[in-house]
Amino acid sequence: MNGYYQTNPDRAGSRSIVQSLRNATVVIAGASSGMGLATALAFARRGANLVLAARRPEALGRAARLCGEAGAARALAVPTDIADPAQVGALARAAVEAFGGIDIWVNMAGLGAFGPFEAIPIEVQARLVAVNLVGAMNGAHAALPHMLRRNRGVIVNMASIGARIPQPFTAAYTASKFGLAGFTDSLRYELLARSRVQVCGVYPSFVDTPALQHAANYSGRALRPVPPLLDPEEVAERIVRLALRPRRALHIGTPHALVPAFWLAPEAAGRLMGRLAARFGLGSGPRAARTDGALLVPMAEGAGLRGGWAAAERRWERQIALGAVVAAAVGVAAFVIGRRGDLGRDTSQPARPLRLAGR
Ligand SMILES: NC(=O)c1ccc[n+]([C@@H]2O[C@H](COP(=O)([O-])OP(=O)(O)OC[C@H]3O[C@@H](n4cnc5c(N)ncnc54)[C@H](OP(=O)(O)O)[C@@H]3O)[C@@H](O)[C@H]2O)c1
Repeated sequence: MNGYYQTNPDRAGSRSIVQSLRNATVVIAGASSGMGLATALAFARRGANLVLAARRPEALGRAARLCGEAGAARALAVPTDIADPAQVGALARAAVEAFGGIDIWVNMAGLGAFGPFEAIPIEVQARLVAVNLVGAMNGAHAALPHMLRRNRGVIVNMASIGARIPQPFTAAYTASKFGLAGFTDSLRYELLARSRVQVCGVYPSFVDTPALQHAANYSGRALRPVPPLLDPEEVAERIVRLALRPRRALHIGTPHALVPAFWLAPEAAGRLMGRLAARFGLGSGPRAARTDGALLVPMAEGAGLRGGWAAAERRWERQIALGAVVAAAVGVAAFVIGRRGDLGRDTSQPARPLRLAGR
């Protein structure tokens, strides 16, 4: 087993909770922390074979051990940079050599980058797209020949609510997730026309993971999650059920209720989102140095399931969420009414630069 870890070689025949996943082979790209780790553990509890990929070998080794303890038939850790197609091809081959095929492939790897678009170095934003979007394409490209050979398999792509509602001050992330949503649907309907392989997209709202620790941050302020926060285990359980009963899209989290506002009044809702993001999302935390996070080089920090948001802070975040929803409703109504009076106004004044709070 050169280059990767192996756990529980003796448990391959043991019973598990969900019979249909027992000894199924599940590859998870982005399994070293957060939702990828939670998803690995959820499949492990069903007795699946796990092939865990990400860049941090120590975190992956720990994830494989935890999967073994949770009940995985076997768990391999294969350090992989998802943006490198050669490494991803090797990952797929390692899974097939170890277990004879690939049943489920989860493209979970992904990172964020926050701040004014022009302030974030373009190579950081290009790298983000290479991981979040091209990485998922690399994964599907490597997995598909093995799935098509047996004419079965499920590819799960982790998108985001940011693939349904554009998120201001994180344009590259939004672009990568909108791109991933389009890629997911296009590939899904191509494959359904010629095979039994399924492709599914997952679209959670904010989840309590180390994602903000790993994100690039050029806002000048510490990042804070947008409430209400989902638990990574909840998303992981939904992904397991999705793999068992595949469908096009899995929307998770109450903020999806705001999506119709973007269909009905995209301009008004978008302007409001931008202001709320500048005021509360990026402008309310303590000052923070600029960072590329884990985009270019992996970070040792944040190898757990959660982001460590304290209970008190999460209560406060829930209050902010309620306030934001009310403000959104009032703001959209006010904007639509106000817009009627704007039609004859001279708009040729110079633009007023938008300043993030504290910058
Ligand atoms: N947290 C949220 O609120 C939220 C909401 C919606 C969607 N999502 C999406 O959910 C996914 C998982 O994020 P998370 O929230 O669980 O945060 P996370 O803990 O930061 O997980 C990111 C994972 O991606 C891996 N990764 C990053 N760059 C990689 C690369 N080049 N090659 C291979 N693996 C790489 C990381 O491992 P290494 O650093 O070890 O490589 C880590 O395992 C992401 O796609 C994210 O966009 C998150």
